[in-house]
Amino acid sequence: MEKYLIVFAFVLCLSCNSKSDEKEMASVYQKELSNISNQVKSSLEHFKPDSLKFPRSLTQKGELHGVPSKDWTSGFFPGMLWYLYEYTDDKELLDQARTWTAFIEKEKNDSLTHDVGFKVYCSFGNGLRITKDSLYKDVVVQASKTLITRYDPKVKCIRSWDWNRDVWQYPVIIDNMMNLEMLFEATKLTSDSIYYNVAKNHALATMKNHFRDDFSSYHVVDYDTISGKVRAKVTHQGYSDDSAWSRGQGWALYGYTMCYRETHDQQFLEQAKHVADFIINHSNLPEDYVPYWDFDAPDIPNAKRDVSAAAVIASALLELSIYCNDNQKAEYLKVAKNILNSLASNKYRKEASQYPFVLKESVGSEPHDMEVGVPIIYADYYYVEALLRAINLEK
Ligand code: GLY
Repeated sequence: MEKYLIVFAFVLCLSCNSKSDEKEMASVYQKELSNISNQVKSSLEHFKPDSLKFPRSLTQKGELHGVPSKDWTSGFFPGMLWYLYEYTDDKELLDQARTWTAFIEKEKNDSLTHDVGFKVYCSFGNGLRITKDSLYKDVVVQASKTLITRYDPKVKCIRSWDWNRDVWQYPVIIDNMMNLEMLFEATKLTSDSIYYNVAKNHALATMKNHFRDDFSSYHVVDYDTISGKVRAKVTHQGYSDDSAWSRGQGWALYGYTMCYRETHDQQFLEQAKHVADFIINHSNLPEDYVPYWDFDAPDIPNAKRDVSAAAVIASALLELSIYCNDNQKAEYLKVAKNILNSLASNKYRKEASQYPFVLKESVGSEPHDMEVGVPIIYADYYYVEALLRAINLEK
């Protein structure tokens, strides 16, 4: 009996420690989010709203690469402002979030790319979640209507890109999983199941065709427009057709975790766990858990890290941990927190400047020598999201 009491006391003590550790971690994340909010707010004194200059990245020389709303990254800055407003309740951040979000409205009719989901859902979607503004609801629904015009029932996927038509017939990229969240929301907003069904079919077809036996993902799957069958599995931003492009693995992990949340379909949860396990057990994942830009980059350990992939993976793992048993939960939380700790370190955290970027060292597209080793806005968006998720989990 005494032996059991001692074991029980020990377990209790361990759990006390872990509870106080959790509290301590939560306060570290809170401090980091407050620092980010102050940093972004101070940059807003110089960085005025401009519908043609959504902050996308900085050049190697530290100059702004600003883009119009039609760029696929336009929604991330307003999205980050919404998250920071949500955290701070700061009126200035709210005004800025509203202003930058409004610039994106016309994208609700952009039927020329799947990125309408990224653009509209990160901006208007977050705005709607936080304010319940009915105008925001109309924009999300219209953007969803636009997005499903790119769905082909034969392929059972939403077409990603329209360019490169002499090479690809119907390219679908793993990134496209991220656009499905808006469609699930549109069904909730309208009670029309069409959006849900398109999203679920897309996720199922992608699960069948985009993954290798080890649960790593190809970047691009090209389908035949007549038969609907797969023509080719290739890369655009990865090292090679057969390599595991890191951000793509992040999109897959985040996408299937979100699909499980929205559908409760067990297959999606299993898929998300398999992808998570591929990432965290990979022999090329560095000790600080910030991946190289491709898990198969030829110059590892000298290859560039991709902080954006790390931020997407951390945010996804924090959500995935909620749906897992205790052992898996502990493992996913451990990795996510290690990533967050690394990103907050001097190696990856950017100092304040006149531009609202938070993290250094992301990689847009290494093969195109585009945005390599620089701050990129989507890394910041998912980092801030992950910090909020970590704080909320510990509540
Ligand atoms: N969706 C494009 C990218 O991840 O670079």
